[in-house]
Amino acid sequence: MAYFLLSLCIIFTTLSLTSSRTITPPSHTTLLNISSSLHQARQILSFNPQKVLQQALTQQETPISPASSSSSFSLQLHTRETLYNERHSDYRTLLLSRLARDSARVNSLETKLQLAVNSVKRSDLYPTQTELQPEDLSTPISSGTSQGSGEYFARIGVGQPAKPFYMVLDTGSDVNWLQCKPCSDCYQQADPIFDPTTSSSYYPLTCDSQQCQDLDMSACRNNRCLYQVSYGDGSFTVGEYVTETMTFGGSGSVSRVSIGCGHDNEGLFVASAGLIGLGGGPLSLTSQIKATSFSYCLVDRDSGKSSTLEFNSPRPGDSVTAPLLRNQKTSTFYYVQLIGFSVGGEIVSIPPDTFAVDQSGVGGVIVDSGTAITRLRTKAYNSIRDAFKRMTQNLRPAEGVALFDTCYDLSSLQSVRVPTVSFHFAGDKTWSLPAKNYLIPVDGAGTYCFAFAPTSSSLSIIGNVQQQGTRVSFDMANSVVGFSPNKC
Ligand SMILES: *[C@@H]1O[C@H](CO)[C@@H](O)[C@H](O)[C@H]1NC(C)=O
Repeated sequence: MAYFLLSLCIIFTTLSLTSSRTITPPSHTTLLNISSSLHQARQILSFNPQKVLQQALTQQETPISPASSSSSFSLQLHTRETLYNERHSDYRTLLLSRLARDSARVNSLETKLQLAVNSVKRSDLYPTQTELQPEDLSTPISSGTSQGSGEYFARIGVGQPAKPFYMVLDTGSDVNWLQCKPCSDCYQQADPIFDPTTSSSYYPLTCDSQQCQDLDMSACRNNRCLYQVSYGDGSFTVGEYVTETMTFGGSGSVSRVSIGCGHDNEGLFVASAGLIGLGGGPLSLTSQIKATSFSYCLVDRDSGKSSTLEFNSPRPGDSVTAPLLRNQKTSTFYYVQLIGFSVGGEIVSIPPDTFAVDQSGVGGVIVDSGTAITRLRTKAYNSIRDAFKRMTQNLRPAEGVALFDTCYDLSSLQSVRVPTVSFHFAGDKTWSLPAKNYLIPVDGAGTYCFAFAPTSSSLSIIGNVQQQGTRVSFDMANSVVGFSPNKC
């Protein structure tokens, strides 16, 4: 009897769902090209990073013309996959390792924000800054994972004469640093380790310098500034805080940029020599070179291609713009004023304050280059996911994978039209995603998942899977973020 009632119930639910199913007009759907995305997914497994490495290594021969920091210049941006192939046996394993790194990334951003919101400057954990001893700057929390934090890299020259290095680019942090001789602990990197004694433009910063004061965690030894950065995922760097000349390909160089010379570096930076902070704080590269704007295009992770990171370039005319907001509690993150979403041309009902950042610095939506999968507050995610599911009942469902709860078996199809997913920003601006930016392969066989995820934190993050193929411009001078599709 119970079974009978249950089956009746199921039949009834199915019927009511079917009858309320929206007939989606063609303009509200987007084509997902399954054959081409599966082809790419298979190719990336056998991709040979050596070729790209060799090409980039010869780029250092380009003569450097002097440029002022206010003029525009650009750098080649490489994906992790093109520099470093972990030789995964299948696409599922590759994906799971990306997703594990992604969770570590999100945790690390949340930890950083938590500290900022609670107004804990890390040096405040100690009675006074000067009482923090050099030996206090050492091995913090260590996690067992060694996955690697860097997802996008550029080649940047450091010192005079300039030596080229692969550096991770990170919009979620500010402090620039690279591994330095002598190493008390350095991880493996692709380039020779930077030796300050071979550079004529290496200047240690004193403890009372503004840059030293701006550090979250610092100490003083013989009036030289020592820094530490911990990323919350077990990786960290400790060393001397200095200024150096940085050189950007053939575009010119900027002197006296603050950078950490790391003698003890552990974790997760793959083969890179260090990290370039692109955050909004005073110590980031963008602030140090007084850039008024920068933009990047994140190529499709499986494409094996590279694109550019540009400073002070005009925003493409066709950009969808959104107000760039700041959090009173931290200047590092780039917040956008997100209003809501539509799926298949229908506005998803989400309470208006869901994405707002409040007075205490809690909530809001940031745009991040290092996070892969967009994280949305659970209720908002559920509404969007439910709308998407309701409009894709024609597709064969598949089991969830890792953090994805909405997956499909598309193995029998070459291509399929799916409901369009769009972000809506203040000022009635709509950014519609290509289908491959929200339905991603999770194996080489044709299983795809809806690539958004819920977060129990109040911080939402727009990740790089959603940004793929889009030029994202951060115009600090005008407080605008721009998204322009197909401008890589
Ligand atoms: C899918 O992509 C392939 C290769 O890029 C192309 O040849 C094919 O025409 C595309 N299919 C559709 C339906 O657009």
